Amino acid sequence: MSRGLPHAPLVERFAAAGQGGVFAFLDRLDAAQRTELLAQAGEIDLAEVARLHRTLVAGAGTRGPGLVGLEPAPAVPLPVNGGDAAAWARAEAAGREALRAGRVAAFTVAGGQGTRLGFDGPKGTFPVTPVRRLPLFQVFAEKLIAAGRVAGRPLHWFIMTSHQNHAATEDFFAAQGWFGLDRGRVHFLRQGRMPAVDFAGRILLETPGTIALSPDGHGGSLRALDRSGALDLMRAEGVDTISYFQVDNPLVRAVDPVFLGWHLLGGSEMSSKMVVKTDPAEKVGLFCRTAGRLAVVEYSDVPAETQAEREPDGRLRFRAGNIAVHVLDREFVRRLAGGEGALPFHRADKKISTVDAAGLPVQPSKPNGVKFELFVFDALPFARNALLLETSRADDFSPVKNATGADSPQTACDDQLRQWARWLRAAGATVEVDATGLPASAIEVSPLFADDERAFAAAWRKLSPPPAIRDGLVLPASP
Ligand code: UD1
Repeated sequence: MSRGLPHAPLVERFAAAGQGGVFAFLDRLDAAQRTELLAQAGEIDLAEVARLHRTLVAGAGTRGPGLVGLEPAPAVPLPVNGGDAAAWARAEAAGREALRAGRVAAFTVAGGQGTRLGFDGPKGTFPVTPVRRLPLFQVFAEKLIAAGRVAGRPLHWFIMTSHQNHAATEDFFAAQGWFGLDRGRVHFLRQGRMPAVDFAGRILLETPGTIALSPDGHGGSLRALDRSGALDLMRAEGVDTISYFQVDNPLVRAVDPVFLGWHLLGGSEMSSKMVVKTDPAEKVGLFCRTAGRLAVVEYSDVPAETQAEREPDGRLRFRAGNIAVHVLDREFVRRLAGGEGALPFHRADKKISTVDAAGLPVQPSKPNGVKFELFVFDALPFARNALLLETSRADDFSPVKNATGADSPQTACDDQLRQWARWLRAAGATVEVDATGLPASAIEVSPLFADDERAFAAAWRKLSPPPAIRDGLVLPASP
């Protein structure tokens, strides 16, 4: 059929690998569709797909670090929980120095869609703040502008998108005037894709002319940083330290001087922040130690009894929850992306829309195949001096994941309000709050006004007279 045509070698390689089904409908496609299908096929590493089928689908499969010999991971505690306040102060000074020296870039992984949220569009465009209804991306943009002002130089911001949302994300930034950021310092990079396979290891078609491809997981960010040239750009700009966070967390300290300082002073190649998990059922990954290395085990991989184990003093034994905030050394990322200490793929059984032998659409009612994903936290066991730092949940973590209930727009909105009410009260303002610290009025503090409690107190003192706390108050007032 295809012999003698320019695409013949590709088609033959697929056939030889038992993946000839990918081109089952090639003869029916028009020229543009063929070009698209061949381009998609060209992205696929057939040897990798065969290996994943052998190890993860046909074999028993490796699922992260495994549970044998798993111990809770020790973390550097917050000063309020017994940490050494002088060491925290030294870390903050070191982090601020690194920011002033331009050594730090921010990195947001934003390749996921808001599917669980029921939101059709890049998750970063979802409005999250209580009064101005700012989208997540703008919250981070303001935090980074603020951090750049304090550091005396603007930061570079790298944003990982996926094929699905790349154009929509770029268009959004352009339409919003880049949120006042220096456009030359905002960089989008697209993550890679992996094909889905059926349980026999055959690559699935989504339509007769397209392969069922999906993003390669946030762990794909390491190779995306490398392939896109982002690591080279960082080197040219003197950036050696990457502050990584997920797109779903409006409370995140996007570039936290204290965290950066602990990472740098500890000579760490990758550091992570944890919050104390109090509810055994909370859906966060768990920091553990296995074979002497720091690692994260996903909540779905840890039996409920293990998650509910308690210390004699009543605290959960495995209590270090992963908030997906990390600091990475640039050259560590390059080494891993280059294949040293390759991250393991994880298997997820899914209902994958596909086509039948006649090319007609099939919408399965139960899982019919497997998707493969890389997780960034699987880099931790490869890192020299991997460090785990405790952070305060109230000041760092309130993700938007579900439409309602836990980790929803409502909980994230309330947690932002609680934070600002705490800052106001600490600065001496009178704010009515309920037993959970939630203020009666909807208020909003821009990160450009202040982005932590200390900065807030200083900025508030300068307001004379201070504004009355009322519903809809925004600091500073929006233009
Ligand atoms: C994730 C972590 C979990 C942690 C929790 C904290 C995993 C497997 N688990 O859970 O340990 O406790 O966050 O909130 O990550 N993304 C991409 N490309 C992809 C896939 C994801 O950029 O291919 C981005 C998403 O845009 C999002 C983030 O990664 O910013 C998290 O992905 P998600 O699948 O929502 O992770 P969770 O299951 O919520």
